[in-house]
Amino acid sequence: MPSSRSRESIAALLRQHAPVLLPSLLACDFANLASEVKAIEAAGAHALHLDVMDGHFVPNLSFGLPVVEAIRALTDLPLDVHLMIDNPAEYAQRYRDAGADCITVHAEVLDDPRPLLEEIRASGALAGLSLNPPTPLEQILPALPHCDLVLVMSVMPGFGGQQFDPVALEKLSRLRDDPDCRALLEVDGGVNQSTIARCTAAGADLLVAGTAVFGADDYCERVDSLNRLARSGRAG
Ligand code: DX5
Ligand code: ZN
Repeated sequence: MPSSRSRESIAALLRQHAPVLLPSLLACDFANLASEVKAIEAAGAHALHLDVMDGHFVPNLSFGLPVVEAIRALTDLPLDVHLMIDNPAEYAQRYRDAGADCITVHAEVLDDPRPLLEEIRASGALAGLSLNPPTPLEQILPALPHCDLVLVMSVMPGFGGQQFDPVALEKLSRLRDDPDCRALLEVDGGVNQSTIARCTAAGADLLVAGTAVFGADDYCERVDSLNRLARSGRAG
């Protein structure tokens, strides 16, 4: 079932809550997916980050279309789908049909991401472009007018629980200060209680965290404290 919300309403909702935590389900208990989704929704998450991995672009496999569809059926929260796959052009529309509200593709696998970003927009989803820590920001600058969000990776994608790479902070602040960038700024990898405020101070609007959220005993307390720390970084 595709999401029923418009691109504009998703963007407005995310902007209204920004800076805001997006729990990554990669770190949840997959044996209890339905109760994990319900628990994180009850804890006050405003959107969910879903990591799709193909075992080629990244050296790990996670989940694909049927799981995104199943999560869509469980919740009305916006679904932010991060495609860590070699051939996103072949799959973007199918993830939209499965219920994605935001679809992010990687700059490293696209010679020119602009046509695909426009295709994603035309499908009604927010179009996101991501870059890995070693990828220079210059590589994505021509595509900025076609992005609704830019996902700055602060780890090499593929696994949760890695250490935050501060190279992301410099990219975030350059994007924040770029008058041509109107995209939401998202950061992903190693975001936790010690790093989240630095991310929002550098300009991040959307903070993806897996281990830091699902590793907690009390999701509600952890979502609250991470959101509070995120706001404190922005305010400071
Ligand atoms: C990593 C994924 C992340 C991952 C983050 O390749 O893109 O979204 O879930 O996990 P943590 O927060 O544990 O670094
Ligand atoms: Zn991710």
